[in-house]
Amino acid sequence: MTKKSGLRATASAVVFALTASTAMADDVEVLHWWTSGGEAAAVGVLKDDLETKGVGWKDMPVAGGGGGDAMTVLRARVVAGDAPTAAQMLGFDIKDWASTTGKLGNLNAVAEKEGWDAVVPPALQEFSKHDGNWIAAPVNVHSTNWVWISKSALDAAGGKAPETWDELITVLDAMRANGITPLAHGGQAWQDATIFDAVVLGIGADFYKAAFIDMDEDALGGAQMVEAFDRMATLRTYVDDNFSGRDWNLASAMVIEGTAGMQMMGDWAKGEFLKAGQVPGEDFVCIRFPGTQGKVTFNSDQFVMFDQGGASEAQMAMAASVMNPTFQSAFNVVKGSVPARTDVSDAAFDDCGKKGMADFAEANAAGGLYGSMAHGHANPAAVKNAIYDVVTAHFNGEYDSATAAEELVNAVLAAQ
Ligand code: BGC
Repeated sequence: MTKKSGLRATASAVVFALTASTAMADDVEVLHWWTSGGEAAAVGVLKDDLETKGVGWKDMPVAGGGGGDAMTVLRARVVAGDAPTAAQMLGFDIKDWASTTGKLGNLNAVAEKEGWDAVVPPALQEFSKHDGNWIAAPVNVHSTNWVWISKSALDAAGGKAPETWDELITVLDAMRANGITPLAHGGQAWQDATIFDAVVLGIGADFYKAAFIDMDEDALGGAQMVEAFDRMATLRTYVDDNFSGRDWNLASAMVIEGTAGMQMMGDWAKGEFLKAGQVPGEDFVCIRFPGTQGKVTFNSDQFVMFDQGGASEAQMAMAASVMNPTFQSAFNVVKGSVPARTDVSDAAFDDCGKKGMADFAEANAAGGLYGSMAHGHANPAAVKNAIYDVVTAHFNGEYDSATAAEELVNAVLAAQ
């Protein structure tokens, strides 16, 4: 090769590299399960933010609350060699992908530049890092031990938000007497499990930790677990006949419309109330599940980036956007969650959001923060799914409470 042609070859290689990297900077394809009205509004905030940075959004939504279906689609795509640029992921799924596949991109460069270590609480870093490396960007913190109550239905039922299990039952009874469905629920395994998070935490925080995080056999099969299942059976009596298979956002809609009194659901439900134009304190009331005040069962939505032979500019831009404090405020105000960063002001948040932020900070400081079993932050997917099966079988009357507690021990042991 002559010197001249060598130069030409080098120049075209540079042009190719630039073109390739510009093309990569243009787009991110993002797999997520944010398909309800409130969730889609939150996706819009992210999409718009990226567009201001010149990063286009290729949407890959997979319907199905809790993300079980999204994880199935993601696995199929990755196995087929067609990984998306980025994917929404929860807790132990992130750990699992990081440790078994080696396909998650390393985000250390952007994390170091933007100082993530100092602003993300250790409870979240536990899921965002693998072998000391950042492999996920946490966009929020949700929690599952909430109850969303129609204000008018509560007023008609005496007006006092319940603080204990007994008060909860009194309010549910009054709502039934008033001719509405007391408890709006969708009979899907992850929704049953979401209520179970709160019921178990309400019986005792140490019990929750022993059963779901330590997977202690005595806790899984003992008297407190039988009591938890008894409470689930009691709650089952307050749902309507058509609950089976109903999506969670349709259950939220029942409360919004006033045909049901309350929904026990994570704070993504607030996104539905807001999307419907409802105002906390005026149209709906948010409380911690009775008996769980000061405690939080959390789950954090995080974005992982699939390694494309090194991180692309678009991936780095997305990671930086997701972690930007102004963005975290704007996004979480709409989503119903609270920021994953500890340095974001609560000024833009409504009363439920302010309470969520204060509760998270308080629980974090006082050791009252527990990973949500239902949303993949207490134990690996195999264990979680084993618990789902037993909880749902019991909720649908296949087991009595004592049998369910026994089955829970067997299921968790077999899944480990
Ligand atoms: C996610 C939320 C989502 C909810 C319902 C949870 O697992 O963390 O972001 O809104 O599922 O789909």
